[in-house]
Amino acid sequence: MTTRHFLTLLDFSPAELRAVIERSVAMKADHYAGRDEQVFRNKVLGMIFEKSSTRTRVSFEAGMAQLGGHAMFLSPRDTQLGRGEPVEDSARVLSRMVDIIMIRTFAHDVVERFAEYSRVPVINALTDDFHPCQVLADIQTYVEQRGEISGKTVAWVGDGNNMCQTWIHAAAQFGFRLHIACPPGFEPNHILLQQYGQHVTLGHDIRAAVRDADLVTTDVWASMGQEDEQRERAQRFRGYQVSPALMDLAKPDALFMHCLPAHRGEEVSEDMLDDPRSVVWDEAENRLHVQKALMVFLLENSKR
Ligand code: CP
Ligand code: NVA
Repeated sequence: MTTRHFLTLLDFSPAELRAVIERSVAMKADHYAGRDEQVFRNKVLGMIFEKSSTRTRVSFEAGMAQLGGHAMFLSPRDTQLGRGEPVEDSARVLSRMVDIIMIRTFAHDVVERFAEYSRVPVINALTDDFHPCQVLADIQTYVEQRGEISGKTVAWVGDGNNMCQTWIHAAAQFGFRLHIACPPGFEPNHILLQQYGQHVTLGHDIRAAVRDADLVTTDVWASMGQEDEQRERAQRFRGYQVSPALMDLAKPDALFMHCLPAHRGEEVSEDMLDDPRSVVWDEAENRLHVQKALMVFLLENSKR
């Protein structure tokens, strides 16, 4: 059996993605009922973080602990990775010691190279290009609140960043339409747009994108690694803000999502996260459940 990885949503078939979400819903119910199964007993997760995190670190670490396993936080500040040991060598060594590895880093090819040399499953916990764990949690949140997402319309407002690009993959894998509105010059990767053009419309008008949408989502104007651009971006993105008034253009039962952390007064108005249409705290919680289900799937399907 070959080792399975989760570097983008395209690594799983649509049926596998749906199965992970179904399992996550079941594992969430078990967790609420105090019936977490100790499926990760004697299993160790290595967590490599080259960027900051609150949700990702806590959800992976808590998830492993709840299911009887252990998670190990590895920062480049105090590992040899930060002193130039090649990714390929680190992958070969770490994957002889732990059972599964998650990586948050900058360039997407780092997770690809790591996976190529790893004996155990590798999970992308955010790169500059994609954040598949988050969108998996977001789809679960939509399904729990509103049912089937296929055939629906999702609006993306703001930067064509890692989250936006992951929503493009999701549109293809789950079969919904994605309306993107971003400032000129901040579009997602043009090759992705070409590949998945049949699922996506791209424009600069946020009102047109949001009109009649079933789900509206956005993200920060400057992502991790773009701190130097924050000031310029704040000017270029002015007007690309989701507010309750903008949400009024969407369907009456539309939901609002944000992967968090959020900047109130920038991409969201001060009151957006507290609006009844906002499900941002459920999205954050679902990171815990869906990543448990994801790790179970990867371990079950990668046995040597
Ligand atoms: N949404 C998300 O991945 O949050 P963190 O950066 O806190 O992990
Ligand atoms: N686009 C954001 C997402 C954070 C979870 C970033 O990459 O910083």
